[in-house]
Amino acid sequence: MKVLCFENNPQACSDTALRQKAGPVKNIDDELRKTAMEMIESMRRERGVGLAGPQIGLLKRIFVTHAEGDSERVFINPTIIWTSQEQVKYEEGCLSLPGIWADVIRPECVKIQAWNEKGRAFTIEASGVLARVIQHEYDHLEGILFIDRLPEAKKEKILAKLQKQKQTT
Ligand code: NI
Repeated sequence: MKVLCFENNPQACSDTALRQKAGPVKNIDDELRKTAMEMIESMRRERGVGLAGPQIGLLKRIFVTHAEGDSERVFINPTIIWTSQEQVKYEEGCLSLPGIWADVIRPECVKIQAWNEKGRAFTIEASGVLARVIQHEYDHLEGILFIDRLPEAKKEKILAKLQKQKQTT
């Protein structure tokens, strides 16, 4: 499995971080703000819509988002407090799984509570792309990848493809 390497974190090339449950952020301080800014910069550079701590080898509960039509957001120690019963299909990709795209079914709307980089608590209800990105990034904090949400046969096909990529690089 290919994982993106970010210059500011040479340890990032370990796929094990992607499979672990991230621990809580203890202090929202200058160091964490610096990390959040670096994550936003990486997300911009990679033209991603979201990036979670474990993707840069940081096993902390933090992710950033930039959904289309929305501002850039930082979520620290988030909790998804509600999801809609209505589910929708939407094509997902992941900076940690380059070249892999698949339709994933998830709740259409979510309500999430978190803290921002200033240490301020907030709650938002999201739908559309933002709801999708939030759920995808939240999964990263739990060690879950979007391919885990696919039917078993489809997931196996993708894993075989990733294995092949790994052998040729
Ligand atoms: Ni991802």
